[in-house]
Amino acid sequence: MSKRRRIAVANWKMYGKLTSGLALARRICTLVEENSPLSYDVVLCPPATLTWSASEVIDGVYSLSIGGQDCHYESYGPYTGDISAAMLSDLGAKFVILGHSERRIAHGETNAFIARKIEAAQFAGLTAILCVGETAEDLNKDSALSVITTQLKESLPAKVRMSQLIIAYEPVWAIGTGIQPSPEDIAKMHKHIRSVLGESGETTRIIYGGSVTPANAPLILANDDIDGVLVGSASLEAESFWAIAEHCA
Ligand code: PGA
Repeated sequence: MSKRRRIAVANWKMYGKLTSGLALARRICTLVEENSPLSYDVVLCPPATLTWSASEVIDGVYSLSIGGQDCHYESYGPYTGDISAAMLSDLGAKFVILGHSERRIAHGETNAFIARKIEAAQFAGLTAILCVGETAEDLNKDSALSVITTQLKESLPAKVRMSQLIIAYEPVWAIGTGIQPSPEDIAKMHKHIRSVLGESGETTRIIYGGSVTPANAPLILANDDIDGVLVGSASLEAESFWAIAEHCA
């Protein structure tokens, strides 16, 4: 039994239009209600276009929340195309994924930039889900541990509120590839992250993401030190997401 309340996060990425996205949210809502009360949290992170309508679908359902996939570091301003944490919160979001490798790589987001976003998210009342993870190249150079240490040290703002923070360990080479670290390697990295976090390491939720499926979820979540999962492609179908999430119990 995990010491911390576990959490299953669905990252829908840029998938889901009004009809299909809300149908998925409704189906997951039903599964949560049928199994209520859950001993863990479930967070759906749809595209920003669905934040409000998905919030309405899940409204009042215990243990189920909506999250964003990114936010700007300012509350408002002349930033065409961006969305602030305050706006996400206004639409009913309680969480936001920050520093995902797809944003670090495709949008050139740096650790310093991500730190500002975490500060903004927490100021707006959101819980930030900070993604960290080494690339295949880092792994081959045997520098995964030091890369994660740097990402943590530089991405966490000086005034970080640890009660509004979740760390997602997501090796870049495991995202969307069907390849994964061994449970032992995941456990080793989680321990490392806890040690970098120091005193807060024991209370902070640290989850794993990267090619999580119904088949491998039981193995990953067999370890009490893993506080949950961040699921991409397998979260786009309610039954497969549920077959993963229920192992958080
Ligand atoms: P995946 O994505 O489950 O499709 O590997 C995980 C993620 O990018 O958060």
